[in-house]
Amino acid sequence: METILLVFVIAIVMALLYIFCRLIFSLWGFPILAYRKLKKNGLDGPSPWFPFGNLSEMKKKTINFQSSNISHDIHSTLFPFFTRWQNSFGKTFVYWLGTEPFLYIADPELLKKLSAEVTAKNWGKPAVFRRDRAPMFGNGLVMSEGKDWVRHRHVITPAFNPTNLKAMASLIVETTIKMLDNWKDSGAQEIDVEREITATTGDIIAKTGFGISDQSGRLVFEKLRSLQMTLFKTSRLVGVPFGKIMHPKETLEARKLGQEINQLFLSIIDERRKSIKGSTPQCDLLGLLLKESERGFTTQELVDECKTFFFGGHETTALAITWTMLLLATHQDWQHQLREESREVVGDNKEIDVDMLSGLNKMGWVMNEALRLYPSSPNAQRQAKADIHVSDDLSIPSGTNMWIDIVGMHHDPALWGEDVNEFKPERFKDDIHGGCKHKMGYLPFGFGGRMCIGRNLTFLEYKIVLTLILTRFSFTISPTYSHSPSVELTLRPSYGLPLALQPL
Ligand code: HEM
Repeated sequence: METILLVFVIAIVMALLYIFCRLIFSLWGFPILAYRKLKKNGLDGPSPWFPFGNLSEMKKKTINFQSSNISHDIHSTLFPFFTRWQNSFGKTFVYWLGTEPFLYIADPELLKKLSAEVTAKNWGKPAVFRRDRAPMFGNGLVMSEGKDWVRHRHVITPAFNPTNLKAMASLIVETTIKMLDNWKDSGAQEIDVEREITATTGDIIAKTGFGISDQSGRLVFEKLRSLQMTLFKTSRLVGVPFGKIMHPKETLEARKLGQEINQLFLSIIDERRKSIKGSTPQCDLLGLLLKESERGFTTQELVDECKTFFFGGHETTALAITWTMLLLATHQDWQHQLREESREVVGDNKEIDVDMLSGLNKMGWVMNEALRLYPSSPNAQRQAKADIHVSDDLSIPSGTNMWIDIVGMHHDPALWGEDVNEFKPERFKDDIHGGCKHKMGYLPFGFGGRMCIGRNLTFLEYKIVLTLILTRFSFTISPTYSHSPSVELTLRPSYGLPLALQPL
């Protein structure tokens, strides 16, 4: 009897030991092997510590810098660890998020070579982010890969064609004028423009993309904002094995909010399905997605795309307008020039002729410069789905995660010159790359076939909203503004943007 018990105990211990070794190997052994392959190619980086990788060094910075002095030299303050590692290892190195090695790239020439080797369909997104951000994006376009990505991109692209965009213009004007009338009627000396514009672009995407009322739109908007705060403002341990268990409150909160948002979109989809019975379907984003659902889009795919577009469709554009207003409030000469241009090209009317917007040249340079200094999407991520042969000296193994530092490239004096941190919209006067020494050094909307699908909507919305503001108000920075850009997926001002507004 005793012998049987002993054999049983030994068997259990052996089994547990086996599971433990497998776990350690898959969590640390596999990544280390991949790391060795990268090192063989001459890629170095800071030493990782199991199981946190380089997170402790990265977390040291998470204290927000805060200043009344407005400096645009934000890369070294937002990402001091990247600046330090760049000084030691150059523009390409390997660092670790927990047990996940990432190839850091701030070298446009390497990006050019990678883009020549890999088509959009064959790029993946890091699995660690696909899992972590699932409540927010599910398998929507930002996160989808391979054939799914091709199918979804093909279905969604027509939603942003010139005819559909033109049809959105009057709703954009109407929603913006409502916000401006409120500003005027409130008589407030000071307004948090970031909060106001984000809410308005939320209303715009709710109406133009989904045809839903302000009230339902606001509900989705608020839940998405809470989800964003839970996922990106808290110091969770992304990439660390069992990191979610170490932050159970945030994990449960994110899951709960994700499900609530799914439910809200399910009822929006349901209502639309009922309303289109017997009538001509609308050509907005939801209309196109529903049409495709008849050809095999599942309900979950529909919901994931709704979440992706609701979030992607308002936050980034709102931030581009917000940072522009900060720059115009602190560069009154440019504010004056854009106001004059708006009056000349578009006039003071409530009606805006969309075809005239292309005449807003200076506004175009200012938008490019604002997105250079403060790119709403501060980085892009990729995962290699097969070995990538870059050159005889460099081959990137399948499964490698990549972190493309857009802020880093946009603030690199070697690419832009010594005035890199100055606001100079005229850089873009005669050159769409703003005089950058490498065409892939300026990537506010990403690159290759996975470039932002919504950029034309942004150009339209940006120009309409800014024209309407400039022709109705002049503005200066409030003394209460504290300059503290921070990354919560997007690049935002931590304490909003209070401006003093004077009606014209
Ligand atoms: C200032 C405004 C915007 C900026 C700076 C911006 C930036 C970007 C960037 C950098 C990417 C590439 C990400 C990557 O390569 O991983 C991207 C992709 C994407 N953007 Fe935008 N975006 C903006 C506006 C919009 C709008 C208005 C929408 C939707 C209406 C949108 C929806 C998307 C989607 C769905 C993708 C994924 C495309 C794909 O992978 O095929 N974005 N955006």
